[in-house]
Amino acid sequence: MKVLVTGAKGMLGRSLIARLREQDCLGVDLDDFDIADVCATDKAIGEFRPDAVIHCAAMTAVDDCETKLDLAFGANAVGSANVASACHRYGARLIAISTDYVFPGDLNCPYHEFDATGPGNVYGASKLAGEMAVRALCPNHLIVRIGWLYGPGGPSFVHNMLRLGAAADTDPVKVVNDQLGNPTPTPAVADHLEMLLTIPLAGTIHLTCEGEASWYDLTQEIFRIKAFKRLVVPCTTADFPRPAARPANSRLDNMVLRLQGLRPMPHWRDALEAFLGEYPDG
Ligand SMILES: NC(=O)c1ccc[n+]([C@@H]2O[C@H](COP(=O)([O-])OP(=O)(O)OC[C@H]3O[C@@H](n4cnc5c(N)ncnc54)[C@H](OP(=O)(O)O)[C@@H]3O)[C@@H](O)[C@H]2O)c1
Repeated sequence: MKVLVTGAKGMLGRSLIARLREQDCLGVDLDDFDIADVCATDKAIGEFRPDAVIHCAAMTAVDDCETKLDLAFGANAVGSANVASACHRYGARLIAISTDYVFPGDLNCPYHEFDATGPGNVYGASKLAGEMAVRALCPNHLIVRIGWLYGPGGPSFVHNMLRLGAAADTDPVKVVNDQLGNPTPTPAVADHLEMLLTIPLAGTIHLTCEGEASWYDLTQEIFRIKAFKRLVVPCTTADFPRPAARPANSRLDNMVLRLQGLRPMPHWRDALEAFLGEYPDG
């Protein structure tokens, strides 16, 4: 199978390229072409003629998106539309990566695939516009929502905590305890994406690790595994004001994975332990 991966130099893209090394796989990124450029995108997909495109490229700097609207909507909405229309034109299946941030975050249980969206920041709005373009322009698509991602080399929250835990500083580390999500390593997502390439599933699917955690829970688990001595203390979102609003509830329910009888994602604690075993420095 010929697979084209956009955003191949990003955190997820790198794990995916490593996972798909036995396929005829081409990775492309911003230094090859800008997905916001419709002709360049069409040319690249038209020349490679992939059976499937896994579309990871995105403007992911959530706070920057608040002020850089053209960049956010250029990559995440227009870019996804360009990838989707080229996939349809050249007969490629499109697997497009999206985010938990398409949801408002005010539900008191995990969001499943059929819950109503309603993003609370520009990044989420631009990614939702990308989802809508994929649905409208490429019928042969699978939208894969992920969240709370970390992967080899970072950057991610896990990498920030590994740095803080290993620092000589003895002050306690204050970590937000009122946002919930599903910490998920990129190799686990890449494993499942490889499996999804082999089955004709279409529509929308959530793909995050099982179990739930706050950022505080995640930090405690990192410090336990790494035997860091620094104290971790809980604080609230209000203690760390950020330009972009963060959803209090980012938890995703992998309902479609379950209903389709597909292999479940690992629990986040097992996945974290495996990740830190393989990549002790992140
Ligand atoms: N990280 C998370 O926690 C998270 C959570 C939920 C969903 N996601 C989604 O998962 C996917 C992968 O995320 P990631 O963390 O791997 O992101 P990442 O590390 O930021 O990688 C994204 C890649 O896309 C490239 N890119 C940006 N704009 C582009 C454009 N206009 N044309 C071509 N390439 C462009 C980036 O290049 P530059 O670095 O040069 O800009 C980067 O190499 C994205 O769709 C993201 O929205 C991520």
